Amino acid sequence: SNFINDLTSGRGLDGQSAGPAVPVTILVGSQTGNSEALGKKLSKAMAKMNFNPELNDLGSYEMEKLPSEQNVLIITSTYGDGEPPDNAADFHEWILSDAAPSLEGVNFSVLALGDTEYPDFCKCGIEFDTRFEQLGATRIFPRVDCDVDFDEPYEEWKKGVLDALGASAAPAATASEDFSEDGYSKKNPFPAPILKNVNLNADGSPRETHHIEFSLEGSGLEYEVGDALGVYPQNDEAMVDEILSNMNFKPTEEVPLPGGGEGTLREALIYSYDIRNLNKTFIQNWQQRSGSPFLRSLVEGDDKAAFDDFCWGRELIDLITDHPADFEDAEEFVGSLKKLQPRLYSISSSPKAHPNEVHLTVGIVRYHSKHRDRAGVCSSFLSDRSEGVNPGVFLHSNNAFRLPENGDTPVIMVGPGTGIAPFRAFLEERKATEAKGGNWLFFGNPHEAEDFLYKEELDQMASDGVLTKLSTAFSRDQKEKIYVQNRMIEAGAELWKWLNEDKAAFYVCGDASRMAKDVDAALHTIAQEHGGLSEDEAAAFIKTLKKEKRYCRDVY
Ligand code: 2AM
Repeated sequence: SNFINDLTSGRGLDGQSAGPAVPVTILVGSQTGNSEALGKKLSKAMAKMNFNPELNDLGSYEMEKLPSEQNVLIITSTYGDGEPPDNAADFHEWILSDAAPSLEGVNFSVLALGDTEYPDFCKCGIEFDTRFEQLGATRIFPRVDCDVDFDEPYEEWKKGVLDALGASAAPAATASEDFSEDGYSKKNPFPAPILKNVNLNADGSPRETHHIEFSLEGSGLEYEVGDALGVYPQNDEAMVDEILSNMNFKPTEEVPLPGGGEGTLREALIYSYDIRNLNKTFIQNWQQRSGSPFLRSLVEGDDKAAFDDFCWGRELIDLITDHPADFEDAEEFVGSLKKLQPRLYSISSSPKAHPNEVHLTVGIVRYHSKHRDRAGVCSSFLSDRSEGVNPGVFLHSNNAFRLPENGDTPVIMVGPGTGIAPFRAFLEERKATEAKGGNWLFFGNPHEAEDFLYKEELDQMASDGVLTKLSTAFSRDQKEKIYVQNRMIEAGAELWKWLNEDKAAFYVCGDASRMAKDVDAALHTIAQEHGGLSEDEAAAFIKTLKKEKRYCRDVY
């Protein structure tokens, strides 16, 4: 009867191919939506072939089903210091534990998303991959680890997996899939005019946080609060000219561009190539062309700390001036560089409050190292070099970070520093929709006088009755450091009431490696102190919050 079932439910009767459809379970671990988007794309493509794909969020997947699956494809990202995305946390804990079942007879393959700029690159994907094998599952195609530019590695993995699973209909056209039907996308960004660009920190503050408003007029682009905006930066022309003056290439020489086509060397270095980040492959390659004994010892030694220390605060220009290298020609030189990547920023506006606009809250990264002033590529582009430019932008949706559907549900938002961005958007949205639920914001920054971002707007929101409660932590205004999590603990009784009785949703945005962890710990403490829960019960309570999507994080 199973066989009949397969025949009747399979795609084999759709006239596309003979035989029952091959069941494939796609499991997605996603924090900011990239894995989720790839999972959807893969599922759609497979449904057009001889497969019966079932797409699951790892957070809601029934884990008991795993040993009886035939084909499992895992797409997962890694966050912070090598942690699984929030929706994959339970699955990750279970599969790595002694309680994990035998997976003999299960075919699998893993696509791991990550960012080589963080420690423990693709750790979660690597752990799943190793563990599935240990548990007896059969790897049908080797794991592919993707850096931020995941489109090509995804295609390579998809092709390998489809071949291994015996795909019979031709894979759907992939390139055209990437252009969203409705126009502007990551591959086809919208040149967005900048309407406003102001520093929110007071003059004299060493910190700079820009509030930037873009026009989306005529783009057809629509977003929801919680989404992010991708921005394509441009490199500093002065830096490009310094690079060119130190190398023997003509700025007007034609070179290949990373996305195809050609351009002049100077333009390619401004718009298309990363001239800032140094990584191991790049330095290895550079070392071979420079013959520098210093670089050689750095590359060949296994002192990771020394290597990281060298890379920190140095850029391409430092290699060019301190360890000159020989390249055959300009084409070979740009061939050693990586593509300039867009950056994602949490959107800080509601489209209901600002039709046809999108706003960002961008912390400008500047520092001095090795005798030079340096700056983050995209943040310094936005603050210093974007006037009159119309930067290329695209939308990145984030379904894991949404306001509660019911406007009566109270929300608690913890967003120190630029972490305030999505909460300005949330508050605007709650105001525009006349949502009745309470809104409690925790905000923190070093000094009240200099760094109280959006103070006037927040005051206005408070007098409008939208911002029910504002708890601030100005860390350096007194001898002892005070952080948002300290304010949470101080207000623990009330916070517990909001969470436990009023069923509030809890949101965190900002620094992943320290702040978000400390805030999480504070939440456990509060559940124990004010809910009378044991350590384990508090952990279970917080797990349930996550399951019910009442604990959402946008952390980086
Ligand atoms: P600090 O730099 O004065 O130590 C935004 O960056 C705010 O977050 C700043 O006030 C910063 O304080 C604070 N911050 C730094 N580490 C933090 C942590 N572990 N938890 C919470 N806030 C932190």
